[in-house]
Amino acid sequence: MSNLEERLLLLLPKGVVGVLALVGILAVGRILACSVWGVVGALRTYVWARLWAKSLPETYGKWAVVTGSTDGIGKSYAKELAKKGMNILLVSRNMEKLQRVAKEIRSKYRVQTDVVQADFALGRPIYGNIAKRLKGKDIGILVNNVGMLLAPGPFKKLTEDNIWAYVNVNVASVLAMTRLVLPEMLRRKKGAVVNVSSVASYFPMAYFQVYSASKAFVSSFSRALREECGSSGAAVQCVEPGAVSTNMTSFDKDIHTPGFFTPTADAFAGSAVATLGHAARTTGYWAHRLQLAVWRTLPERYIVSSYKARMDNKLKKSK
Ligand SMILES: NC(=O)c1ccc[n+]([C@@H]2O[C@H](COP(=O)([O-])OP(=O)(O)OC[C@H]3O[C@@H](n4cnc5c(N)ncnc54)[C@H](OP(=O)(O)O)[C@@H]3O)[C@@H](O)[C@H]2O)c1
Repeated sequence: MSNLEERLLLLLPKGVVGVLALVGILAVGRILACSVWGVVGALRTYVWARLWAKSLPETYGKWAVVTGSTDGIGKSYAKELAKKGMNILLVSRNMEKLQRVAKEIRSKYRVQTDVVQADFALGRPIYGNIAKRLKGKDIGILVNNVGMLLAPGPFKKLTEDNIWAYVNVNVASVLAMTRLVLPEMLRRKKGAVVNVSSVASYFPMAYFQVYSASKAFVSSFSRALREECGSSGAAVQCVEPGAVSTNMTSFDKDIHTPGFFTPTADAFAGSAVATLGHAARTTGYWAHRLQLAVWRTLPERYIVSSYKARMDNKLKKSK
């Protein structure tokens, strides 16, 4: 301790020094406890989960429904669930792609498949037909994966159609699809709803303002629904990935090129599906968890403004 520090301490009444010491000990204790808890959580989610894989059809039911499943994360989720013995119902907007993916899954994993053509951007009218096609199937897992992301830009440039498409695809589809399957899961006391949100749900993102807000909605809804379902047997999982190399991220090569923090969709889904039943809220991929842990030590204001500055630069260059 320096002379100056010693003199300052002598100036303080003894009681105050004691309180300051206690505050210091509590703060260090909290940081240590959070770090240990974080490491234990990560080991449970990414190591233990892979070692003790459950039988998905037995735990949840025979069929999995995956929305937005002809490409990217949805297609990889469908393949990973089929690999684990689930029959797969694919819901997407392009019949040719649907049939191609269904055939690939059937021949590779020897499970049953079914397809429903639906454009989630159209909103309410599509759900009557989807409900009919779900009837009679033992739906064990619903993966609310479908999502859209338009090119970055200021809010004023979005058209009315853009806004309603965002709401219908990223927000309403999660609610409407969950509403179709959850009552039966609650009745059977088994099933899982997996909502694919994003790490963007943690931070408001300038120029992706509607996207990040829609993902904050998905995360908040998932957490509330999980509380509601409690120990009913119907699980609700929220998956909040960082960047994954798919069509969605193709606008920016920094987050599209596969690398340490950017898995391929197959690598991501392999990891994320294994966390089902082991983590209620997860990034789904260990490197994304690491990234998020670091971001969360920084002030939100700093993250939000530096992201905006980075996007300002990119948008200027692309003009
Ligand atoms: N990629 C990432 O870095 C990342 C990160 C965090 C979260 N996410 C989330 O992960 C989910 C999947 O993203 P992704 O990267 O896999 O996207 P993607 O590569 O663009 O694939 C989207 C899938 O959804 C389908 N789809 C799109 N709009 C649709 C609509 N209106 N109706 C029906 N189907 C539609 C697409 O079908 P078509 O073949 O017909 O286009 C495709 O199969 C999204 O919710 C996204 O927000 C992605």
